[in-house]
Amino acid sequence: MTRIAMLGIHHLEQCLLIETRSDPHPWGRVNWLRSLRDDHCLGYWQGDELLAISAYTLVLDDVSLLNIVVDNDCRGSGVGRRLLTEGLEWMQQFGGARCLLEVRVSNTVARALYSKLGFVEDGIRKKYYPLGDGHEDAILMSADLPLLV
Ligand SMILES: CC(C)(COP(=O)(O)OP(=O)(O)OC[C@H]1O[C@@H](n2cnc3c(N)ncnc32)[C@H](O)[C@@H]1OP(=O)(O)O)[C@@H](O)C(=O)NCCC(=O)NCCS
Repeated sequence: MTRIAMLGIHHLEQCLLIETRSDPHPWGRVNWLRSLRDDHCLGYWQGDELLAISAYTLVLDDVSLLNIVVDNDCRGSGVGRRLLTEGLEWMQQFGGARCLLEVRVSNTVARALYSKLGFVEDGIRKKYYPLGDGHEDAILMSADLPLLV
């Protein structure tokens, strides 16, 4: 039995566990703590097990996808698509009319997910992400809500 529900501060350690296992560029404790406290965070559970986490913020009617991470063991089975689709439906209830995001140029899997959901590329933010000794560009993407999927 799977479900999608809000995450709170008490899920911090579980979020960090998923992120450490599964995100090559983890946010870390301080960012998750802040997001769980101040933003809209949603998780995907199978039974009692948290399998994926996501965070959104809302400014006027613009939703920003801050982060989404699916546990390594459940990739490629539609979890990310469902969490993001339902997360954005949820954000529409708070007034979201558009979703904006940034993604690493090298993150071809996430870019494919976003394109599949109807996001379009709006531009590039040069040297946005730290990467080793240097930096990596971000692709800026957006989609109107509701998603047409
Ligand atoms: C990006 C991420 C959330 C995708 O989650 P997922 O549950 O594996 O994705 P889904 O199974 O829902 O797949 C949805 C779509 O994503 C794309 N996709 C998923 N896995 C892919 C792969 N290995 N190669 C290419 N495209 C892939 C496909 O377009 C897929 O649609 P399809 O199944 O109809 O072909 C996951 O890989 C992840 O957590 N990555 C690490 C953290 C991260 O990079 N987050 C994004 C930050 S911007």
